[in-house]
Amino acid sequence: MKDLLKLLDLSGADIGKILDLADQLKFDAKNGIAQKPLAGKTLAMIFEKNSTRTRVSFETGIYQLGGQGIFLSGTDSQIGRGEPVQDTARVLSRYCDGIMIRTFAQETVEKLAYYADIPVINGLTDFAHPCQVLADLMTIREKFSRLDGLKICYIGDGNNMANSIIVGGLKCNMSVSVACPVGFDPHPGVIAFAGDYAGFKLTRDIREAASGADVVFTDVWASMGQENERELRKSAFSGYCVDGELMKLTNNAMVQHCLPAHRGEEITEEVFEAHASEIFDEAENRLHAQKAVMALTMGNIS
Ligand code: CP
Ligand code: NVA
Repeated sequence: MKDLLKLLDLSGADIGKILDLADQLKFDAKNGIAQKPLAGKTLAMIFEKNSTRTRVSFETGIYQLGGQGIFLSGTDSQIGRGEPVQDTARVLSRYCDGIMIRTFAQETVEKLAYYADIPVINGLTDFAHPCQVLADLMTIREKFSRLDGLKICYIGDGNNMANSIIVGGLKCNMSVSVACPVGFDPHPGVIAFAGDYAGFKLTRDIREAASGADVVFTDVWASMGQENERELRKSAFSGYCVDGELMKLTNNAMVQHCLPAHRGEEITEEVFEAHASEIFDEAENRLHAQKAVMALTMGNIS
């Protein structure tokens, strides 16, 4: 695997291989077995948006694998002054062994990967959040010991998380139901991909989406970069909330939220706290899933 740009680029078998290695690396870490496949290697970590989990889990992960992360904020580096992405890609390729980038347009990540000689990992764009959904799939598989045949539902904005959950879930043979308000559907390319799967459903009705679900996902109503739409979105998404009544329609579902969460908007405090252990397992698994991605892209593991 050269890069991780979006889950659309991976097969179900590729995802399975990442999850298997992530499980192994988690087991090793918990049992004090040090794996250092990235000894002496560096990961440039470009952040053009805020982050807590992604930054800390990548920086900790590369350190645990024997390497070193280099944090580059969009504003402090020349990226913020408009240095072209193709030049940044070629410069970082002369120093580093991999690049993780969190930015706005998916095209930026694709262009970076095109010009870079080293692996590029998408740490979130407006279109996709592949590392998060790999961690989510890992967490679901830990709980159910399988992915095949489970029903997942996603309630809320058809954003980067929705796009990645749809693709990841369907590629892993899960059925995926998504409830979004009109005007906030997932990306048309993702809808087109999902159209080939009998297990995919897009509805306006959160009750229909959640009915019989094994896993309930939600995410914020306004993503990073949409702060000026917050008020408009608050009214558009009113009712698209994972609450106790909705949970009663599910198959005693687990709850996943990539965080940060807005209690009282997309999820109630009650549901969040009742499922906190699943949500924080999910956050922890960012570390293990990304270590697997880094080992497979930047290391000599095949
Ligand atoms: N879930 C996630 O990507 O969190 P951060 O924005 O804190 O990195
Ligand atoms: N959809 C959210 C995810 C944050 C991890 C955002 O893009 O802000």
